[in-house]
Amino acid sequence: MNRREFLGTTAAAAGGAASGLAGGGLALAATGEATAGGAEASSASGHSRVWQVGAAGDFDTLRLATRETPRPGRDEVLVDVHMSGLAARDQAIVRGWFLEDKPPTRIPLSEGVGTVAAVGEGVTGVAVGERVTCAHFARWISGPWDPVNYAVDVGNTVDGWLGERVLLPASGVLRVPEGVDDRTAATVSGSGVTAWQALHEVARVRAGDTVLTLGTGGVSTWGLLIAKAAGARVVMTSSSDEKLAQMRALGADVTVNYRRHRDWGERIHAETGGANIVLETVGRITLDRSMQACANNAMVVMIGTTPLPERLPEMPGLYVRNLGLRAISNGSRDMLAALLRAVAANGIEAVVGGVFGFEDVVAAFEYAAAADHAGKVLIDHRL
Ligand SMILES: NC(=O)c1ccc[n+]([C@@H]2O[C@H](COP(=O)([O-])OP(=O)(O)OC[C@H]3O[C@@H](n4cnc5c(N)ncnc54)[C@H](OP(=O)(O)O)[C@@H]3O)[C@@H](O)[C@H]2O)c1
Repeated sequence: MNRREFLGTTAAAAGGAASGLAGGGLALAATGEATAGGAEASSASGHSRVWQVGAAGDFDTLRLATRETPRPGRDEVLVDVHMSGLAARDQAIVRGWFLEDKPPTRIPLSEGVGTVAAVGEGVTGVAVGERVTCAHFARWISGPWDPVNYAVDVGNTVDGWLGERVLLPASGVLRVPEGVDDRTAATVSGSGVTAWQALHEVARVRAGDTVLTLGTGGVSTWGLLIAKAAGARVVMTSSSDEKLAQMRALGADVTVNYRRHRDWGERIHAETGGANIVLETVGRITLDRSMQACANNAMVVMIGTTPLPERLPEMPGLYVRNLGLRAISNGSRDMLAALLRAVAANGIEAVVGGVFGFEDVVAAFEYAAAADHAGKVLIDHRL
């Protein structure tokens, strides 16, 4: 699978990235390179370690490098990272399937949390010592989506979170409210805000709505948490009865094993009367069944980017039930700020399926790809 197949788009978005700030001056050359465990630890001497995508072939092509800790330039923030989160996209980036024209020094991961260590000239929104996260598309502040936002896509077209100390674009950096724990804050800017945009900005979720969210991965479990906080009834699917039991314990109202019940769309419709909102977190491969699960006038939000199936989707009910279909890309900084407020107000805690130490990043990627867990896989940069 190449990048275009992964995204399922034309190269329009890539054009934005290539012509914009790709590289962005944020990729810094390493002073030395080593495999995990072999590198010098961070020290007061001003050096710190980062993981870089390397040759971008598979997870073991990731490289741990020691470099002189950079000073933040204009509109940049240096952050001591506490935790970062892995998403499906990061697997594609490390394998070279997603905007493959990046330098081997690119630092991956688009979500994390840390403490501001230094700020560059012109930075006013945050101060040294504050706990922060950063919008995934760091220049998308508010308003509607524009593919030009790929130009400053943290962990993809500019450096991301996978280092002990990293530089982030100040335009995306936001304070994390007290009461939001690090495990949760580390996952809001990727998975969390995607589910937030789908539910609150696109589908306008209301109490009593029936929300279907597919699988038990990062975006889907965030969908469960946000939809429950809004008073919705949540339907979830999974390949695993054990994961479904875990989701019920977290508040899921109706659960279906999609491996055992190939007709899961019709089953969900029969059992619930139809979903008003679908978070299509798999992609066009499950679209027909998702549409079978829909109530009249439902909104299907396309999130998952699996490639087109050989048999094209027939989109049952699209016309008869007047269904809406809308794709999204993550969310703006304003949406992230709204999510952080909701997380703090509702005491929401991310669903975490595994935590790995900073030197165990390759194992973390392998664990995430095996998908035996539910929720997010995190890197604890202090372990
Ligand atoms: N558009 C956007 O802005 C955006 C943002 C974030 C992610 N994404 C995309 O959204 C998708 C999910 O991302 P993620 O980070 O949440 O992934 P993830 O954490 O790796 O979760 C993947 C989960 O998908 C479930 N799954 C796989 N095939 C399925 C099927 N046929 N039916 C139902 N569930 C299925 C599995 O659940 P079980 O193990 O329970 O079976 C698996 O654990 C990816 O394609 C990613 O690229 C898009």
